Amino acid sequence: MDIELSLTEALKSVELASSLADLDGVRIQYLGNRGAITQLLRSVGSLPKSERPTAGAAIHRAKVRLEDAIHARKEHLEFEELQHSISEDCIDVTLPGRKRFQGSLHPVTHALTRIEAMFEAAGYDVVDGPEIEDDYHNIQALNLPQDHPARAMHDTFYLDDGRVLRTHTSPVQVRVMESQPPPIRVICPGRVYRRVSDQTHTPKFHQVEGLVIDREISFGDLKGTVIDFIHGFFQEDAQVRFRPSYFPFTEPSAEVDVMGTQGWREVMGCGMVHPNVLSMSGIDPQEFSGFAFGFGADRLAMLLYDIHDLRTLFENDVRFLRQFG
Ligand code: PHE
Repeated sequence: MDIELSLTEALKSVELASSLADLDGVRIQYLGNRGAITQLLRSVGSLPKSERPTAGAAIHRAKVRLEDAIHARKEHLEFEELQHSISEDCIDVTLPGRKRFQGSLHPVTHALTRIEAMFEAAGYDVVDGPEIEDDYHNIQALNLPQDHPARAMHDTFYLDDGRVLRTHTSPVQVRVMESQPPPIRVICPGRVYRRVSDQTHTPKFHQVEGLVIDREISFGDLKGTVIDFIHGFFQEDAQVRFRPSYFPFTEPSAEVDVMGTQGWREVMGCGMVHPNVLSMSGIDPQEFSGFAFGFGADRLAMLLYDIHDLRTLFENDVRFLRQFG
């Protein structure tokens, strides 16, 4: 085999190799274990002794030239590959940036935060309780025996095991009375559930209930507390009225209305804690008396922000929510 011819051919293949894999193929073809030039080198031994040095030197030179050419081509191909990947992943710094949206607090969260702050400032504790309740705490302990007709006031979601999704946060107040002696001064904010859905009712809503128990607590204390709260929450001159009402757990009971942009709006129920409720939770009604009140935080948020459909509060439409930033 003519060494010059092999070299010319090999150098041409190196130039034509368009990828690192191609180039490696060329290297194996000529310089690999069974490569053409490797074999030429091996055949030197079978030449007449006098020809061996010249032939050996010539083949060796060819081998070195080819190795250099492969090395140079390799660097070139690597450089090209790098350029390519740089231009592929390049960032166009002249493009406009991506806008970041700032979230805002939900109107009900705004209302709840305000309500809690107001009562805390007045010395109340804020307490929490389970959303899945037993029938006893949700209803019975509130002076509602199994077959009491007023149970129909609570459109209850029942779980398979007989427990319920609490229909109000009153069971939290029962748990407070069971676990600590008076004086008690708490509010219980939280999610509650009822099987109702229309413009002014959603199956899940937020309630805040309050309970005060001490010696000589009167209906006057209740009225003063409620009126102060409403004036603080809405405005000093908000019009408030009390209407006689009925709740099994309070006696006497009342409902409270506030004058809004669309006339009187009912905002809460309240009353003097029924003696049966006190004694069922281990508090002596001869010694202590108390008042309780309960309202929907969503309703208050609606009145405060003049929102007319309760459901908009839970649809998570950002165009609506953004207004309360
Ligand atoms: N628990 C009552 C309800 O959810 C509200 C209420 C609380 C009424 C306390 C009177 C006293 O309807």
